[in-house]
Amino acid sequence: MWLTTLFLFALLLVLLWAYSAHRQSYWAKRRVPTFPKTLPLIGHLSHMMSKKRQRWEYIDEVYRKHGGSTFCGYYEFLQPILLVGDPELAKLILIKDFDHFVDRRTFTFPLEEDDVGNHFLTNATGAHWKGIRSVLSPSFTSGRLKGMFPLVADKADKLVDYLLKLREEKGASSFALKKTFGLYTLEVIASCAFGMESGTMEDEDSLFNQNVAKFSKIGPLRMLKFILFMAAPKLCQLLRIRFIQDEMIFFMDVVKESMAQRKAGLYRGDFLDLMMEAQVDQENPSSKMPKYPLTEKIIVANSVLFILAGFDTTATTISFVAFLLAKYPEVQQKLRKELNGLIQEPSEMTYQGIMEAKYLDACLSETLRMYSPAHFTERQCTKEYKLPGTDVVIAPKTVVSIPIHSIHHDERYWSDPEEFRPERFMPENAGEIKSGTYIPFGVGPRNCIGMRFAQMESKLIIAKLLLNFELSCVPGSEDLELSRQLGLMRPSDTLEIAFKPLR
Ligand code: HEM
Repeated sequence: MWLTTLFLFALLLVLLWAYSAHRQSYWAKRRVPTFPKTLPLIGHLSHMMSKKRQRWEYIDEVYRKHGGSTFCGYYEFLQPILLVGDPELAKLILIKDFDHFVDRRTFTFPLEEDDVGNHFLTNATGAHWKGIRSVLSPSFTSGRLKGMFPLVADKADKLVDYLLKLREEKGASSFALKKTFGLYTLEVIASCAFGMESGTMEDEDSLFNQNVAKFSKIGPLRMLKFILFMAAPKLCQLLRIRFIQDEMIFFMDVVKESMAQRKAGLYRGDFLDLMMEAQVDQENPSSKMPKYPLTEKIIVANSVLFILAGFDTTATTISFVAFLLAKYPEVQQKLRKELNGLIQEPSEMTYQGIMEAKYLDACLSETLRMYSPAHFTERQCTKEYKLPGTDVVIAPKTVVSIPIHSIHHDERYWSDPEEFRPERFMPENAGEIKSGTYIPFGVGPRNCIGMRFAQMESKLIIAKLLLNFELSCVPGSEDLELSRQLGLMRPSDTLEIAFKPLR
């Protein structure tokens, strides 16, 4: 009996191995170079999820050694993915031939309780994505951003006061970057997305803070869940594995409460108002239809998404800029000089002034080149596509991954790429940047919808910081230590910089 069981088990293993080998020969059959060291069934995922080496480090090695700087293939489990590092090819996929690559890798959430996840702009597909994006885009025009500027400036002032208090009351001479800027970006996005005072700076243990912190932690278990939803949504449905967790329910309730207030007549002209203007009027179906009617579920989903997509990315970016300014005092000085020339009093800061500060823009751009929180982006093929100049045909559903970090560090496009040199981005040098090689916010119709908002928010706080404080490295912490957590590229949670009031 045991011999039969052993035989059947061995047979099963052989069949599994053969099936895996067959699926993982997908790229070889198409004569596309493949990353080395694939594991049966797992593919290359183990290299990408290791805590020893971050995903971007592994991808960078492949980019440099195994054809990734043009294109090459790899496997996540049995799924073939194409890595495209050639900026010209990437531009075709992201911009010119976008109609073949409308979607991002899709996560399907089959349980009714999780359906909200199917309406996130990041995850929505085809015409549904296009409709939601067309309603949300007007929220990010310069006119709207200008209108929101005072709200953001108010939070930036609050952060300056918070730091002054930290120094006076607690005698602090340094602060933790990620935590401190997280307080600021959370207040900003809560205020601008749905008019909520989150009070994160007054009460660091607030429910708001606790729930955001829970959301930002992507442990191996959470990652595994994501992969399961991606690879086997039906199995998740069968096992009733839920995607929506308590922290997301918390934010959904906050949005619903704000929506009830808006229905009672409150108007702020923020993201939530714009979405509600496009809501299906269920009580009055004969009323004029908006261009893409949104349901309450879509509105809740995307309000929550703005918090989740906008808070951590921006806090991380500001942390990187502040660290680099502390590390390079001559850059800090030059930037302060520019700001002093444009703005006499910190309270006089205007949208125009901030957006016209060229060196400020250059410092932010160079930081995002060196440290892109979103170190890659993806598209999913929606219509068969022949890669121009080759005979490789990309089949529908194939995921294409663009290695933003590697392109930003390729010495063919950037001289001394590991050097922090904001001058690269000054207008007189703009002609030297090869198109498609600088994409921290992605590019094309599906680029980051919050880009200009994030730039305004980051520039504003950096300007206020420099006009109020001198920043320097804490002795012994002159090297930027990156977090080992999965997900975004971020500084380690404990990284601090020193600050000293200027007046
Ligand atoms: C410095 C901060 C930020 C960085 C570095 C960043 C980066 C990115 C990147 C690389 C993408 C993918 C683009 C592509 O695939 O071409 C993206 C998409 C997106 N981002 Fe951002 N982002 C930032 C801030 C924000 C903010 C503040 C918001 C919201 C208010 C936001 C909302 C989104 C959304 C909704 C998408 C998906 C767009 C779509 O699929 O149509 N991001 N972001």
